Amino acid sequence: MQILGAIEKRRAYRALSEAPIEAEVLERIVRAATLAPSCSNNQPWRIVAVTAPDRLEALKAALSSGNYWAKKAPAIAAFVTDLSWDARLEGGRDYALFDLGQAAMAFQLQAVEEGLFVHPIAGFDQAAAKRALGIPDSLILETLIILGHPGDPGSLSEKHQAAERSPRARKPMADVSAADAWNEALIPPPKS
Ligand SMILES: Cc1cc2nc3c(=O)[nH]c(=O)nc-3n(C[C@H](O)[C@H](O)[C@H](O)COP(=O)(O)O)c2cc1C
Repeated sequence: MQILGAIEKRRAYRALSEAPIEAEVLERIVRAATLAPSCSNNQPWRIVAVTAPDRLEALKAALSSGNYWAKKAPAIAAFVTDLSWDARLEGGRDYALFDLGQAAMAFQLQAVEEGLFVHPIAGFDQAAAKRALGIPDSLILETLIILGHPGDPGSLSEKHQAAERSPRARKPMADVSAADAWNEALIPPPKS
């Protein structure tokens, strides 16, 4: 098992081709998401995998302008939940969003395994995206995950072309992890 290799291979790339994704590939990716662990096995994730041209077009109209690159995507998955579908424990422990995130990561890793680019986004108009897919307004459409085969970086803005080639940006391990006990270095500096 080369799990760390797959995790390292995943990057939020944007240069997509419009080539379609085979139905069975998409099915394997969605299945991977549903194999994620969840609190009390509540499985609070709901995934709407969109490939029909009319639905895709309506969904793409809800993207923020900075996510112009996602308009080439042949498939977009909507990750939906409701806080009441999973445990809600004291101290702000809402497990629906946590477990939805775990499903989203399994989804992304399987997409990488299938040779695809896979990129979660928060930059969309939630109400418009829900309308496009018929998702009830009361639910949380937490993220859209953009899928596509690798394409031509020349279709991207200069900034995004540079991001495509950039090394991965991560905080130092000591800022985000500690051995044995909490320490003050784990508190993020105030946002400027
Ligand atoms: C919940 C979430 C929302 C994101 N929203 C956007 C977005 O709207 N547009 C975008 O271009 N990238 C978006 N990203 C991608 C992140 O910017 C990217 O994952 C991060 O910069 C780390 O880069 P890496 O994934 O290549 O390691 C999002 C990622 C996550 C997990």
